[in-house]
Amino acid sequence: MAENRTGTSLFSPFKMGKFSLSHRVVLAPMTRCRALNGIPGDALAEYYTQRSTPGGFLITEGTLISPSAPGFPHVPGIYSDAQVEAWKKVVDAVHAKGSVLFCQLWHVGRASDQVYQPGGVPPISSTNKPISNRWRILMPDGTYGIYPAPRALKTSEILEVVEHYRQASLNAIRAGFDGVEIHGAHGYLIDQFLKNGINDRVDEYGGSIENRCRFMMQVIQAVVSAVGADRVAFRMSPAIDHLDATDSDPLNLGLSVIERINKLQLQVGSKLTYLHVTQPRYTASGQTESRRAGIEEEEAQMIRAWRRAYQGTFMCSGGFTRELGIQAVAEGDADLVSYGRHFISNPDLVWRLKLNAPLNKYIRKTFYTQDPVVGYTDYPVLSKADGGQAPLARL
Ligand SMILES: Cc1cc2nc3c(=O)[nH]c(=O)nc-3n(C[C@H](O)[C@H](O)[C@H](O)COP(=O)(O)O)c2cc1C
Repeated sequence: MAENRTGTSLFSPFKMGKFSLSHRVVLAPMTRCRALNGIPGDALAEYYTQRSTPGGFLITEGTLISPSAPGFPHVPGIYSDAQVEAWKKVVDAVHAKGSVLFCQLWHVGRASDQVYQPGGVPPISSTNKPISNRWRILMPDGTYGIYPAPRALKTSEILEVVEHYRQASLNAIRAGFDGVEIHGAHGYLIDQFLKNGINDRVDEYGGSIENRCRFMMQVIQAVVSAVGADRVAFRMSPAIDHLDATDSDPLNLGLSVIERINKLQLQVGSKLTYLHVTQPRYTASGQTESRRAGIEEEEAQMIRAWRRAYQGTFMCSGGFTRELGIQAVAEGDADLVSYGRHFISNPDLVWRLKLNAPLNKYIRKTFYTQDPVVGYTDYPVLSKADGGQAPLARL
């Protein structure tokens, strides 16, 4: 197993702020559309506990901060009392298995449709420009549609959305979550402000990098002041063009975000729990999710530049295999690695990676379906004969 001179490996413990993790394999946040009518139920409790390990770290699927936040069917929310109550059962079940659980706070912005919006109004964004028809939206009936034109938020409306993030973070803590991850990646609302390929505003939220980072910083500051920096994380993907989220200078955008978070950390005298960065290498084949050929070395350099610049815990995601995860941690490119698709199909992924056991293949067509079991909680774990289900304390 690849280890560096200090013996650090994907399977060695890590102190993430106030949390003592027993390994560095993280469950990446993944929308799974199983929270019927926005309420997390028993299926979610089962799904997350299956993926829990003592001292493990899990991040929930994107969780809605307000009624205008959805753009997928049956995504859980964290804005109503009923949702908070329902999450408590999921959180308690995960805690009983010894894992730390963060709630990912999500607003999709223009990646929505009137059908998901209260009153059937157009979705909100930084811009009036729709997502191009290169992309499709999953509709409640399982068909795919074209994204509609959004409505650019008025300057005077923006602080109200910031307030929704703040309130959602308080709700998450009330539900028992250990912290929150603010979703600033993948072309959703915060990314729609950050990227100059989308943001065409002429007010103080558009134009310069300072202005494009303003909404993000207001959200982070509000959430940090509500629940404390040590319970807040931020996810960004400056180099990912998902949903047309392009920027003319992703390296500099990432560095600018990091510079501002570093400064905030100094001001409040506490670090965020971690910074989560999605690699452009979203598939393991050297292509971005949108199939644009990646320039691997250039991309690796960019991630390293962000890693060096950020003064805190650094988590990477995107196309990690066992070998790439081991290498990233051993070479110091990441403190933690989040796994997405392999974790969907391997509830005991941590154990399988540790043993170098074969992985179940994920079934893409059930990623976003609603069956509470099929494609969700029915992937098999290793049998005892394969070395599975050994005492997890040995991890
Ligand atoms: C079905 C599915 C749903 C996803 N939903 C989210 C989400 O809600 N929030 C988020 O930040 N990323 C989401 N992602 C991205 C994952 O967190 C992860 O970064 C991505 O799958 C790349 O990692 P992988 O190559 O290990 O799968 C999703 C990915 C998949 C496959």
